Amino acid sequence: MAIGPQPVGDLHQGTDFRRARPADFGVGLAQPRQPGALFCWQIKLFGGLQELGPEPCAAELEGQFRQPGPLALVGRDAELAQLRALVDPPPGESRVLVVLGEAGMGKTVLLADVAHRTRRAGMRVLLVTGRESEQDLAFAGLHQLLRPVVAQISRLPERQASALLGALGLVTDAVAPDRLMTGIALLTMLSDLSEDRPLLVVADDAQWLDRGSLDALVFAARRLDAEPVVLLLSARGNLPPSEFQRDFPELLLEPLSVRDAARLLDAQPRPPHGRAREQVLTQAAGNPMALIELSRIIGADPSAGRR
Ligand SMILES: Nc1ncnc2c1ncn2[C@@H]1O[C@H](COP(=O)(O)OP(=O)(O)OP(=O)(O)O)[C@@H](O)[C@H]1O
Ligand SMILES: [Mg+2]
Repeated sequence: MAIGPQPVGDLHQGTDFRRARPADFGVGLAQPRQPGALFCWQIKLFGGLQELGPEPCAAELEGQFRQPGPLALVGRDAELAQLRALVDPPPGESRVLVVLGEAGMGKTVLLADVAHRTRRAGMRVLLVTGRESEQDLAFAGLHQLLRPVVAQISRLPERQASALLGALGLVTDAVAPDRLMTGIALLTMLSDLSEDRPLLVVADDAQWLDRGSLDALVFAARRLDAEPVVLLLSARGNLPPSEFQRDFPELLLEPLSVRDAARLLDAQPRPPHGRAREQVLTQAAGNPMALIELSRIIGADPSAGRR
């Protein structure tokens, strides 16, 4: 029995990997549900059920958005070209793109690449990362997104300002959230901000954004027109959050080609060789995260590749 990368839910429900024979060298990649963790991988190797992780974890990878330089990406030339063209040359009108793909396919690194280039080109970038632990907290996503520009809310027309301040919990008087007015306020904010310089809004892991924030974002995305605002949204899987289904262009990240997967594997600090290398390539099936993590495990314990 050999299994490829799978979400932990599927592993637990469907796969009895304890019965696998050591010779099968089956590898399961699991992503435990960890509140607040952006990426947490746990690797289980058959024959000993070795558990490593959870790592690399939130802090390390969330930092990708804040890295000073671009990451060395392997392959993804067409995808990078499509993404970079959204911001270079700076947009003359609004653009929206939804990036989709299974866990570990590279959504975050691609978005981070674009964010980095956009900042370097002098555009403003606003970021929000959906967090599983906050998906039921109304407007938690908007709060994260607008924190750097919260002072500008006071410049909005009064009703919009008080709706947005209320949604973000920034007023002392409790006001019932007004979703429509909050959406209008976000639209005005993004539009006003883009008058200074073009604006990139990145919403990563949108599958975990709260409903109120998604509603406001989609409201704004549908109405931005001549404003130089780019909205880049990523979500795990091959379907966007329901709010973003149908009306927006999508970019689905497929597995890396066999050639690029081999390049990425061979570029790891301690890449496997021989049979173990072939097995990792097969098991990872073009998933960059799987290639990196499996190589790390075998590098730390070469016997793992022989089990
Ligand atoms: N083309 C690539 N070249 C080099 N490294 C890559 C590439 N794509 C992804 N990676 C690396 O693989 C790992 C997973 O990528 P990333 O975190 O971007 O995936 P993701 O699609 O955002 O996953 P998730 O759905 O879990 O958020 C990261 O360590 C990233 O740096
Ligand atoms: Mg990601």
